[in-house]
Amino acid sequence: MDKLIIEGGIALNGIVKAGGAKNSVLPLMAATILAEGSHQFSNVPHLRDVITMQRLLTHLGVASELTNNNLHLTSNGLQSHDAPYDLVKTMRASVLVLGPLLARWGKARVSLPGGCAIGARPIDLHLDALKKMGAQIEIKEGYVEATASKLKGAEIQFNIVTVTGTENIMMAAALAEGTTILKNAAREPEVVDLAHYLIKMGAEIEGAGTGTIVIRGMQNLKPAAHTVIADRIEAATFLIAGVITGGEVTVENCPPFLLETLLQHLKKSGCKIKTDSESITVSASERLKSIDIATSPFPGFVTDMQAQFMALMSLARGTSRITETIFENRFQHALELKRLGADISVEGHTAIVKGVEKLSGAPLMATDLRASASLILAGLAAEGTTIVDRAYHIDRGYEKIEEKLTLLGAKISRTNQ
Ligand code: UD1
Repeated sequence: MDKLIIEGGIALNGIVKAGGAKNSVLPLMAATILAEGSHQFSNVPHLRDVITMQRLLTHLGVASELTNNNLHLTSNGLQSHDAPYDLVKTMRASVLVLGPLLARWGKARVSLPGGCAIGARPIDLHLDALKKMGAQIEIKEGYVEATASKLKGAEIQFNIVTVTGTENIMMAAALAEGTTILKNAAREPEVVDLAHYLIKMGAEIEGAGTGTIVIRGMQNLKPAAHTVIADRIEAATFLIAGVITGGEVTVENCPPFLLETLLQHLKKSGCKIKTDSESITVSASERLKSIDIATSPFPGFVTDMQAQFMALMSLARGTSRITETIFENRFQHALELKRLGADISVEGHTAIVKGVEKLSGAPLMATDLRASASLILAGLAAEGTTIVDRAYHIDRGYEKIEEKLTLLGAKISRTNQ
């Protein structure tokens, strides 16, 4: 199993380009099921999750090729309507094929995702919404079996904000009969990016980016071309890599509005922030001040940056209370950070992080994608050598992370010993 070896304590400085957003490209790829023909996406990151989605789509009848950062998908009609357990268990976003399969072909069989390192993450809201649109849904042998002769528009009130739930139903509604209104919809930029692509495909969608999205269903959609938005989580991780090591990193190809809330928090803790329309620079002239955060749906503090922010706060001056409101088990990195000397205690959904003056390198175990980013950040700041085991987690969501960090001056390498 791959491990990352980090020699910490070196300030990272320089410029890095953000790649395309993982959480945008996955739903965009699922949307190709909705229209036969040739779909083109640029700014596509080379990630393990993209490869998993390619494998799933190939199985369903959508061929694809990723060259450089351009992804060309050809949707050729239905080969299978089955998303098997083997693929879904490695990537929960596989569930995004459910809505498009049902809307386009009237049937879908998708493995239930099961438990997950960061929480239960059920898909009941996706299923309730599809039922409201007229789908018949049964759970058999661990699979969701859904059929619908024609989905019908409906008014759907999500009782929890769900990102992939909003995306799944928006895609289904684009080919349904009549109008669908999604209330308490997710407002994440990746939802908006998907809406933009669906509109290019001929869909009529209003309100993406607000809590109410209105979708008028069409008889047919057509393929189109699209550039994936920047990965705000990757960008933010690099900005924190700069500041946690006492350096200054600029991330290009990332419009600052994607990270407004995070930047406000960094500023509050003492960071200096410079932005222009497509780039962000963060630095700090002295040790940061601890601040409290609580995760929440967009535009709140993004849960996918909670672990990385905890690494930053573990070296700040004072005590920070970090509250996780989206996932019930998203503090596994806390125990690993303690192995580096961080002073963290967890009380229910809140981690209390008392800043220490220094961390020292140690062997660590990554438990999930964003936790592994947090451990890498802490390792970059720690004195001595940190080894992060189970590096495969990081490859799900960060393209060439060692190369990008090396360009900024980090000493990081990979081994499979
Ligand atoms: C997406 C992101 C993930 C991010 C998360 C929250 C993708 C591919 N993944 O995950 O990176 O961390 O949003 O911003 O975009 N819930 C239910 N029932 C449902 C659906 C969700 O109870 O049917 C709950 C979940 O357990 C969780 C909360 O709602 O507590 C939000 O989850 P959701 O927004 O659906 O997360 P994902 O879309 O899976």
